[in-house]
Amino acid sequence: MKYEVKQCRILQKQELAKGIFSFVVDAGALAQKAKPGQFANILVPGKTLRRPISICDMDAQKQTLRFVLEIRGEGTQILAGFEPGQDMDLLAPLGNGFDVGDCNRKALFVGGGIGVPPLLHPAKLFGQHATVALGFRSQEAAILIDDFQQAGCNVLIATDDGSLGHHGLVTEYFGQVQPDVIFACGPMPMLKAVSEFAEQKGIPCQVSLEERMACGIGACLGCACKVYRPTEDGGMSETYGHVCKDGPVFDSRKVIF
Ligand SMILES: Cc1cc2nc3c(=O)[nH]c(=O)nc-3n(C[C@H](O)[C@H](O)[C@H](O)COP(=O)(O)OP(=O)(O)OC[C@H]3O[C@@H](n4cnc5c(N)ncnc54)[C@H](O)[C@@H]3O)c2cc1C
Ligand code: FES
Repeated sequence: MKYEVKQCRILQKQELAKGIFSFVVDAGALAQKAKPGQFANILVPGKTLRRPISICDMDAQKQTLRFVLEIRGEGTQILAGFEPGQDMDLLAPLGNGFDVGDCNRKALFVGGGIGVPPLLHPAKLFGQHATVALGFRSQEAAILIDDFQQAGCNVLIATDDGSLGHHGLVTEYFGQVQPDVIFACGPMPMLKAVSEFAEQKGIPCQVSLEERMACGIGACLGCACKVYRPTEDGGMSETYGHVCKDGPVFDSRKVIF
């Protein structure tokens, strides 16, 4: 894993929804190294542990990375207070990222809440071949819809309270789609439902998991998750993987939900 620590100047900040902020930073050569689905561990002034935030978008030519973060606790509250002109201290790029493969295939992207940001860049690569099904609590919490639409993606929205799009779960759209490949990020129950759908239909599916993290580089064993690993006799055994090093993106068939 070739990660580095880099001070990145904040170029743009925008509040996308209440308590959800987008930051574009000048990342230099990091922007060329990063893969969709990877993340950065961001230093929080006054805190020992960095906070993991997914790379939402990247522009190799402009050498920028984009992050979208939601205030959840003290760490993200402090990060949300950063302003353009200040530097963010990134440990990046971390994790394995999505294996996007052939972008002419029909891809389904499924995102829930703050799991939506890491899907933006890979969905842009698929453009009009992508159907993007996004689930939010409500219209007020909906983010990045315009960004997906501008990339030519077919966007389907569901909200828990029915204030935008379909009133219900994003997984209720699955009857309408016949993708060749699926990418998902969001709450575990949503990822479980997506994985079951993929399994039933025999569609390859990659899920990005969120787990509490500390070091972010596989050194502290703080982010264990249960996975299947192939055995020498051709079977599967249960073991533990690390979200920061073996993931955050996993083949859905390997995750034990
Ligand atoms: C790979 C990965 C990618 C992520 N991408 C994003 C993103 O793009 N945007 C976004 O808003 N959030 C993202 N998160 C979640 C984000 O890291 C947490 O919301 C954040 O760490 C919470 O920190 P806090 O200090 O505000 O909250 P607190 O609850 O006060 O945090 C206390 C401690 O728990 C850890 N922690 C708490 N919740 C989580 C969590 N869900 N995941 C990991 N560690 C946690 C913190 O790192 C910290 O050490 C991601 C998490 C992971 C693992
Ligand atoms: S966060 Fe330390 S091993 Fe994953």
